[in-house]
Amino acid sequence: MVNTAEQQDQQELRPGVKAPAKETLLTPRFYTTDFEEMANMDISLNEEEIRAILEEFRADYNKKHFIRDEEFNQSWEHLDPETRQLFVEFLERSCTAEFSGFLLYKELGRRLKDSNPLLAECFTLMSRDEARHSGFLNKAMGDFNLSLDLGFLTKSRKYTFFKPKFVFYAVYLSEKIGYWRYITIYRHLEQNPQYRIYPLFRFFKNWCQDENRHGDFFDALMQSQPHLVNGLVARLWCRFFLLAVFATMYLNDIQRSGFYEALGLNTREYDKYVIKQTNETAARVFPTILDVDNPNFYNRLEVCAKNNEKLNNIDNSNAPRVVKWVRKLPYYVSNGWQFLNLYLQKGIDAKAQRQVVR
Ligand SMILES: [Fe+2]
Ligand SMILES: [Fe+2]
Repeated sequence: MVNTAEQQDQQELRPGVKAPAKETLLTPRFYTTDFEEMANMDISLNEEEIRAILEEFRADYNKKHFIRDEEFNQSWEHLDPETRQLFVEFLERSCTAEFSGFLLYKELGRRLKDSNPLLAECFTLMSRDEARHSGFLNKAMGDFNLSLDLGFLTKSRKYTFFKPKFVFYAVYLSEKIGYWRYITIYRHLEQNPQYRIYPLFRFFKNWCQDENRHGDFFDALMQSQPHLVNGLVARLWCRFFLLAVFATMYLNDIQRSGFYEALGLNTREYDKYVIKQTNETAARVFPTILDVDNPNFYNRLEVCAKNNEKLNNIDNSNAPRVVKWVRKLPYYVSNGWQFLNLYLQKGIDAKAQRQVVR
């Protein structure tokens, strides 16, 4: 059952429980899929590799990792209000994203149990990891006297339906980009410990290995379905998802650059690095990747970033709704135009590149 935003507003939250952030195009999504199609999938072409990854999941390397230590036992009142606000928002978004992974994997594990036990166990063990991640983040929110009501979130959020193949593309990329985001922050803070404003970041090193393994699982799964990573249709969809994931991250992070700057990072450089690495990682499985070194790529994203700023200003103005809508229209059109141009920009043939390397 899906509640509307109005219904959400009417429900009361306990004190200290944070109301879920407003959903926009850029907030983390909750997914659902065609479970039957997934259950009937024949993975025999790459079963060996999937079994090897299952063994890794079973080994549970991070079983004892997510334990809060002494360093958490202190007050965080000294953080200035703006940093604190950005930080809480970061925790909330990350917690929501991790929790959305948990729900999807958990449901897949449950529904595939009888029909496809190998995949079901992989999903169940990945949901174990995501539960740890989101739980750990929710406890961190507790340090700032807030928490997310995850049960409420489960019931109140809208679920986006994706066919299994779109789940694979989208979730594969979000796992790999998650890996690069966490490891990049970890390495930066390792070299610049004066910016490590909160102990959570110390946990990112092992944490990101979970995400990396999850990504590898989807890599193996896609390789078991050759039509998903070969041919024109696959090329078009892979490009679409790469662009959607990269653009969403870039635009999101620019809106919250204060958070990355509080950690001593340059937001744009951080994002460009993460995007480049994720793009190169995707070249191992996707037939095509984006040419992110083409100057046009970021020039166009910068236009979108400026448009978003204008859209936010209009949203925050006191103008009547219709006037707001009319004023927003050209920026929406411009964003669409940039996106279309980026999509049509010449990509890089990852499959040909792999064959050369071999
Ligand atoms: Fe995770
Ligand atoms: Fe993950």
